[in-house]
Amino acid sequence: MCGIIGYCGPLDAQGLILEGLSQLEYRGYDSAGIALFDEESHMHFIKKVGKVAALKEACAKDPILSHCGIGHTRWATHGGVTGENTHPHTVGNVTMIHNGIIENYHALTENYHLQGKLKSQTDTEVAAAVLNELYTGDPLGAIREFLGCLEGSYSFCIMFEDRPGEIYAVRNMSPLVAAYTGSGAFIASDLTALLPYSRSYFVVPEQKIVKLTAYTVLLYDPDGRECEPEILTASWNTNAAMKNGFPHFMLKEIHEQPEVFKNTILPRLNKGLPDFSDENIPDELLKNVTGIRIIACGTAMHAGMVARALMEPRLRIPVTVSVASEFRYEEPLIDDSILSIVISQSGETIDTLAALRLARESGSKVISIVNVKGSTIARESDYVIYTHGGPEIAVASTKAYTVQIAALYLLFCRMALARGVYSEEHAQSFTGSLLACAPAMEAMIQKKTLIQEIVTHIVGSPDAFFIGRGMDYAFSLEGALKLKEISYIHAEAYAAGELKHGTIALIADHVPVVAIATQTNILAKTISNIREVKARGAYVILIVTEGTRIDNGLADVLITLPATEDKFTVFPIAAVLQLIAYYASVQKGLDVDQPRNLAKSVTVE
Ligand code: F6R
Repeated sequence: MCGIIGYCGPLDAQGLILEGLSQLEYRGYDSAGIALFDEESHMHFIKKVGKVAALKEACAKDPILSHCGIGHTRWATHGGVTGENTHPHTVGNVTMIHNGIIENYHALTENYHLQGKLKSQTDTEVAAAVLNELYTGDPLGAIREFLGCLEGSYSFCIMFEDRPGEIYAVRNMSPLVAAYTGSGAFIASDLTALLPYSRSYFVVPEQKIVKLTAYTVLLYDPDGRECEPEILTASWNTNAAMKNGFPHFMLKEIHEQPEVFKNTILPRLNKGLPDFSDENIPDELLKNVTGIRIIACGTAMHAGMVARALMEPRLRIPVTVSVASEFRYEEPLIDDSILSIVISQSGETIDTLAALRLARESGSKVISIVNVKGSTIARESDYVIYTHGGPEIAVASTKAYTVQIAALYLLFCRMALARGVYSEEHAQSFTGSLLACAPAMEAMIQKKTLIQEIVTHIVGSPDAFFIGRGMDYAFSLEGALKLKEISYIHAEAYAAGELKHGTIALIADHVPVVAIATQTNILAKTISNIREVKARGAYVILIVTEGTRIDNGLADVLITLPATEDKFTVFPIAAVLQLIAYYASVQKGLDVDQPRNLAKSVTVE
């Protein structure tokens, strides 16, 4: 939520910050703004409601020669999408941009007598006013005191009018990375904005203060002592964050799946057996736990539901899946006998992070499955399995989902071995079948023209339903989420057997129903449920595995997956469901990569 960037150095700060904002735009795109020191040390502000393109247009009319500045692209929380609420916010000497939420802004407004004095409705302007009160010419001292006043999550980049050429930054929970290169000093919400300039970077430690000048990036601990950052090297390159000829990031990321799926699995196979020794995950842990709690949000949570359907019946221990934002308030039964698996592409989702902290406080060991190296969730977990998905730029998650499931499947297989559920031969056969899903995914991606045609019927309808049983139901949830988030078509996923308990009332002539029937043990029952919707006029798009016998007239459209064992059908199906959503959005002429009201990384509760 919200992208922030700061730069000091010899390059053109205005152009560089605008380009960085384009890279960060997937984090929020309600409005954007920049603040720059010009060569005479005067400050300039340019802000625009709308996307970064609007800000770029405004800046093109008003180019400013600058070597130090900050920029922000906003996902509105406090206050509507207006010019007044657009960052940066300035009070007195202080100009700042912010990602996060200041929870005690009411108390701060009262304590600092700010009522009636502010121009915007944002918590950020309150924060700027507080810092301005505390500032008497010593930036580090004032920021230290300021941190003591704040409750909530934040990453701030701050400039003081009387300190041209300097940027200060701090964070609590919200992400921030920094780098010093031959081309100057950089700070940003995430790596994608830094990648064109540097592959070495550091994650700003919480509560430490960073100071950027054209010649250095310095880090200070809460007592004001200079300290050394831990330098990391990005394994991603700039190419990975470009569209590379695809019309949208989402389509590119769908296409990347077979490759990144293998990248996630292959380094963790040793003689065909899953091996987590690089992650230091002890077999003892996997062997002795008496239950598993999977915690995540959105698509990552759906990946967890697929894993639950795989794990519980085979490991014969309870496996639950919790929505991270609910977990904390459920008073969950969790202790050191339970393994927590936390899943997050960004590694920064605040609800997931809060759930992780609770799980650890309760004594549970946490294995996280994370895509972004060095992210907060990764750093706070007992063990991390990095998915090697590369940067996921489209707001709708695609490749992150399949690599999360790949990692979960490997982890399951290691657990099954450790607990004596699988022999080595059985585990080798499992990983062999898992790897065979890469060509199965590819085969379905190649069917994109067929899917594009099918989607025409869905696009003409205000509603769509996704039904299935068991694992097929878990896939349906993801299919419906993907469709609604980028095509704005109301989509519901239903356990096929549950429809007749109410929701079937919504099935009428031509209502599209995507029916998934790949689980052979319950195929006959799912088929009966499909007959029920067909009898009520539904337009049925049926997804089955090759070789499944289907009666004439059961489906209006049949999508056949390559022959795949039941437990692995998620991979080719994921590609189909993603392409359905993608083409629905394209056919409706919508912004596929940046759907309304959403942002890639959800760093507010
Ligand atoms: C949907 C989507 C979201 C994310 C969710 C969790 O396409 O992308 O539902 O899956 O916000 O994000 P991470 O995985 O970053 O924790």
